[in-house]
Amino acid sequence: MAAYVCTRFCINKFKVSITFIQRRYRVKTKWAATRPKFPSTELALHNFDTTYSMQFKDLWPSIRVAMLCEQKYGALINSFSSEPHIISDLEAQGCKDFISVGFSSNEVHQHSQEDSTTSHRDSTELEPAALQHNISLDIKCLVFPQGDTSRFKPARPDSSGLLGYYLLDAASVLPVLALDVQPGHTVLDLCAAPGGKTLALLQTHSVDYLWANDLSVSRTTRLRRTLQSYVPKELLNENKIHISSTDGLQLGLTEENRFDRVLVDVPCTTDRHSAMVEENNLFTRSRTKERQKLPLLQTQLLVAGMQAARRGGHIVYSTCSLSQLQNECVVQQAISLAQEELGITVQVQDLRWFAQRFSDTFHFAPHLSVGELVLPHLCANFGPIYMCKLQRIN
Ligand SMILES: C[S@@+](CC[C@H](N)C(=O)[O-])C[C@H]1O[C@@H](n2cnc3c(N)ncnc32)[C@H](O)[C@@H]1O
Repeated sequence: MAAYVCTRFCINKFKVSITFIQRRYRVKTKWAATRPKFPSTELALHNFDTTYSMQFKDLWPSIRVAMLCEQKYGALINSFSSEPHIISDLEAQGCKDFISVGFSSNEVHQHSQEDSTTSHRDSTELEPAALQHNISLDIKCLVFPQGDTSRFKPARPDSSGLLGYYLLDAASVLPVLALDVQPGHTVLDLCAAPGGKTLALLQTHSVDYLWANDLSVSRTTRLRRTLQSYVPKELLNENKIHISSTDGLQLGLTEENRFDRVLVDVPCTTDRHSAMVEENNLFTRSRTKERQKLPLLQTQLLVAGMQAARRGGHIVYSTCSLSQLQNECVVQQAISLAQEELGITVQVQDLRWFAQRFSDTFHFAPHLSVGELVLPHLCANFGPIYMCKLQRIN
């Protein structure tokens, strides 16, 4: 009997049972070491429930369910790969390129005519409104149809080791498409790592000079590795692609008035990740201050992007958050700040035509004050991705 050290009495009205648990089988729950009292994902969901139920009202429950379900991917085709059947193999599985789908041959023709006119443009001119409805058809991103949740197989390397496609949230190609890179453009990717959008920018084959920057050294190393797996060595070794690990805020000052196109894909609350994954979660208690400071950092980065753009140049601001505070509010704040502090005037570009164009593939939020937002939806589970396009006027 001495071996039995724990005795539990379970008493109810009719019976008494006695359970003995041997010491060697006793398990002590290690709360502090193994289980956080409040998992960051739960804190994130609680935060989202509070703010997004107000912001999206009746739409929030369906966005929430989609965000907690498996995300859909797209295969960004690597046109540098010599693998011959990448697109036809994916098409045979039922995938379609969401970018060229819906373009009539007439529009494609108009697009290529517009391309040829822009290549002779003086870099200080403002672009005519007609040119601002362009989309680079050189970028190809294949997705499974709505409601089809099949997964892509890993990409295969070609004879030189370059991979055939890059898997990413297909909605994250939209900010690059909205940026509308034209032949001969200089492009700054201010927060570039791990590099999905940088790779999409290079797929346009229009970039004359690309500066891909990220504050984090380790993430810039990842970006470099990604490019090495997708882009021929010769192109990387040319002086046309520059990779740096600098604070983007500095580049606004040192590279003032320089780029035709600037992508400002800022750090944000990465809502889908925060709701699903504990690792590197911004809602962990120790990162509260960092999270609260995000809108300020985002505003400063967007202003830096406006500074780096030339007169007439375009800037696209993007996040992967649903938060109005990190999206529309940041854009409006940055526009006022740039005007008041730096005398830089920027104009918001209407992207409604753009959302319309891709509404068969993505579910866009209705009625935003500025920009467009892809909402996660069970039938088209991409996003969230917010984007707003601006043109620097002076
Ligand atoms: C949303 S991620 C960018 C994703 C990337 N554009 C892509 O498509 O793969 C935001 C990035 O901003 C970087 N970042 C944070 N603060 C920054 C700063 N002050 N200047 C430049 N980059 C910064 C982070 O290291 C992070 O890699």
